[in-house]
Amino acid sequence: MKWIIDTDPGIDDASAIITAVNSGALDILGITCVHGNVGLEYTTRNALKLIELMDVGIPVYGGASRPILQKPEHASYVHGTDGFGNTFLSEPNIKLEPIHAVDFIIEAAYADDKLGLLTLGPLTNVALAIAKDRSLEDRIDRIVMMAGTSRARGNTSPVAEFNVFADPEAAAVVFDTGIPITMVPWETCLDTLLGPDTIRELRKSLTPVGQAFSNAMEFTLKGIEASMGQEFLVLCDLIAACVAIDPSVVKEKASVTVRVETCGRYSRGLTVIDERNIEGAEPNVTLCLACDREQIAGMFLNAINHQN
Ligand code: BDR
Ligand code: CA
Repeated sequence: MKWIIDTDPGIDDASAIITAVNSGALDILGITCVHGNVGLEYTTRNALKLIELMDVGIPVYGGASRPILQKPEHASYVHGTDGFGNTFLSEPNIKLEPIHAVDFIIEAAYADDKLGLLTLGPLTNVALAIAKDRSLEDRIDRIVMMAGTSRARGNTSPVAEFNVFADPEAAAVVFDTGIPITMVPWETCLDTLLGPDTIRELRKSLTPVGQAFSNAMEFTLKGIEASMGQEFLVLCDLIAACVAIDPSVVKEKASVTVRVETCGRYSRGLTVIDERNIEGAEPNVTLCLACDREQIAGMFLNAINHQN
């Protein structure tokens, strides 16, 4: 299977990209960027810079700069105004590919190989690709995504997780396609924290990408330390990347139907989980309810210290 990583880097997106690329386990066709944690000008720049630092020559595409309906929603309080912990990476020498991310996704879906999407940001690019060419509903083989909540415990509204909250219409389009989705929800990420031992190892990393990442993570760590009095990292997107690389990291899962609330006054962006199959629909999601933190920390440390 070939993979496209759709992403809004983003500190945890960076950890996911580094691990997906340096694990060598995924055949990655390209990285498509989307608005999200910060604006597209920074998400594209960060993706290009990470690829340059790893020196791997994976093409990077620019995509949607805003959600389908609502105003852009950013998370610079978590990721810094540059999306990379206010470290303001220098201008990359490599450039964006000349075609739009949406067209690249469509082109890849028409190739003979099976196609998987690893989505780490708002789902605008994927929804637009499906809107442009509906046959993608059958041509995309699977999506592994960091998105949504399993217990309505939100991180952006009381009930909604950022990637869904930042473009609920796009998420609704994608969840309604019937493409098999493996979903890593916010609650699972919270239960898979990386603690002081991993942070210590990350600070020791000597590779160019390791040093860039550990500088950027200090911003997040400071915020967490100030509010929680402890140092730990919640690298949500990393968990989704590890699930795509090695499904054995998932320790508990459920097959469920998931819909996205787009109208609720208080619940817009909620992922509604039909746990007891009250709708009687064919489940569209494998929900990852618990993952192996040690395995994930190990995969990330190997990747960040990998010399290309
Ligand atoms: C998700 O939102 C973003 O801030 C992170 O990059 C991650 O994709 C977590 O809710
Ligand atoms: Ca992200």
